[in-house]
Amino acid sequence: MSRDFKIAAAKAALTLLEDGMKIGLGTGSTAEELVRALAPLVADGLSVIAVPTSERTGVLAKQLGIPVATLDEYPHLDLTIDGADEIDSALRLIKGGGAAHLREKIVACASDRMAVIADHSKLVGTLGAFPLPLEVIPFGLAATRRAIEHLCRDTFALAGPLTLRKNAGNPVLTDSGNVVLDASFGRIPDPEGLAAELSQIPGLVEHGLFINIADIAFVAGPDGVATITPGPAD
Ligand code: A5P
Repeated sequence: MSRDFKIAAAKAALTLLEDGMKIGLGTGSTAEELVRALAPLVADGLSVIAVPTSERTGVLAKQLGIPVATLDEYPHLDLTIDGADEIDSALRLIKGGGAAHLREKIVACASDRMAVIADHSKLVGTLGAFPLPLEVIPFGLAATRRAIEHLCRDTFALAGPLTLRKNAGNPVLTDSGNVVLDASFGRIPDPEGLAAELSQIPGLVEHGLFINIADIAFVAGPDGVATITPGPAD
C-alpha cells in the first residue's frame, strides 16, 4: 500500500513536467518510483535532462534510459522532484534519511521549483520526531559534535542524542565522503532559527532542514493525492 502511495505521488508530480525541461531527481524510495514512472515517458519521446541528487539515483536513471547530466553541465534546472522524511503544513521539510540531503539541497536550490513527493505518513504537526540528519566533515568530528550540542541545548533548549549514523558497524559515508550525525530532538519548535544557527557551525556541511525551498508537495494517502503549498504553520 505504501508503495502505491509513493507511485501515486510521483505520478502526480510528473504532471509538472514539460518537454525540454532540465530536472533534478531526488533520492530515496519515493524518488525511485519517480524515476521508474519517468522512464516510459522518456521512452515515448519526452525530452528531459536529469540531474541526479545521488550516485544511486543516477545509476537507476541511466539503467532505465533517462538522459543524465551533472549539475556542472546544467547549473540551472527547471524543476526538482524529491522525497522527504517529514513535511509540516508550512512545507518545511526534514530530509537526509538517505544521507543525500547535501546534494539534494544544492540541486533543489539550483532549480526554479522544488516539488516534494511522499505518502501521508510523512506529514507532521511539528518537525523533529524524525532525527535531524547533519552532514559533518570527518576532520574534527568531536569538536563539531560538541559545538552542535552546545548550540542546540543553550540556544534552543533542544536535548537529545547525536548519533553517528552507521551501517554494519561502520560510519555511513555520504556521496561527498562525509559522515552523518542524527539529532534526536523529538520536536523542533523553531526550525527557521535552528537552521540559521546550524549553518554557522564550521565542519557541519549541511543540515537536513529544508526551509523556504519546496514549492509544492504531492502527498498520497487513502483519499488520493493532496497538494500542499507554502503557508503559515498550524
Ligand atoms: C534522502 O537523503 C532523503 O532526503 C530522502 O528524500 C528521504 O529520506 C525520503 O526517502 P523515502 O522516499 O525513501 O522515504
